[in-house]
Amino acid sequence: KEIDLQQVFDNKIENEVRIEPKDWMPEAYRKTLIRQISQHAHSEIVGMLPEANWITRAPSLNRKKILLAKVQDEAGHGLYLYCAAETLGVSRIQTLNDLHSGKAKYSSIFNYPVLTWADIGMIGWLVDGAAILNQVPLCRTSYGPYARAMVRVCKEESFHQRQGYESLVVLSRGSEEQKAMMQDAMNRWWWPTLMMFGPKDEESSNSELSMKWRIKRFSNDELRQRFVDITVHQAEYLGLTIPDPDLKWNEERGHYDFGEIDWEEFWNVVKGNGKCNKQRLDARRKAHENGAWVRDAATAYQEKRKQRELN
Ligand code: ACO
Repeated sequence: KEIDLQQVFDNKIENEVRIEPKDWMPEAYRKTLIRQISQHAHSEIVGMLPEANWITRAPSLNRKKILLAKVQDEAGHGLYLYCAAETLGVSRIQTLNDLHSGKAKYSSIFNYPVLTWADIGMIGWLVDGAAILNQVPLCRTSYGPYARAMVRVCKEESFHQRQGYESLVVLSRGSEEQKAMMQDAMNRWWWPTLMMFGPKDEESSNSELSMKWRIKRFSNDELRQRFVDITVHQAEYLGLTIPDPDLKWNEERGHYDFGEIDWEEFWNVVKGNGKCNKQRLDARRKAHENGAWVRDAATAYQEKRKQRELN
């Protein structure tokens, strides 16, 4: 009897059985996973750049060690994710070429400048905090290799978020200048962080299928709301003002209401016209070119070993 492959796939999704690389899957499922996982990988790798600029400027040896570890973690996340994308039949070089040519997307957040040490704290607290909220549900995403990669990624992201918050707690107990520096960073990072969750649900073109296939478990707006609800109290503890006059507790909804995001700015950044898009892509391309000799050496070594085995 002929097996209905689509039915087998649908049943697995329905019963929370992970889809694995060699399983049959609809082409559109494969495509959307390649899209999301590769964008995610690029975000991790490009995300190293704004922070790496601050390793030499960290205010103490301890802060420097923490930042170094964090930036290295991001590299590891990118590598797991490129591997997960490869299990879907796309080559790493193709994925990287798409990033370098500007064809592939990566998170809008990494196209903003990092101007002060307080920005590094904000990246940990707000940006990594938002990333965790988005990524914890991905530990249960329907594609096995992606879900498993997310488990370790989330543990490390949690450390990143904690270190960011802790460094801000220190600033919040510091001088007036330090407090002002922190508020200035908050003013610049709040709205771009809310944009990380993606467009509004009704404009999120991929959501319907991604939710059906259980790639996504919560919508962009649901996660954004959860982030605001959690973060308001942490901001209060830090003595920070959230730069949104419309932010208000809504008793009826049991959530905070908040102002409208500047979607024009969001799409502008996504399309490549943010403050640092060019700088980030140039840095990635340069790093790739500078790494050519390592790839050549690895290929030559592999060839040599093959020859040795043949002889
Ligand atoms: N920055 C850049 N592009 C974005 C962003 C963003 N913040 N949010 C959405 N987009 C893009 C989508 O990639 C999509 O474009 P595409 O169809 O050309 O691929 C388009 O805007 C429409 O958005 P959605 O239909 O809502 O896209 P999707 O269902 O993929 O949801 C989301 C977007 C929530 C980011 C999802 O892809 C996701 O959960 N990704 C995994 C997590 C991730 O990538 N995090 C990266 C930042 S965290 C970090 O690295 C520290």
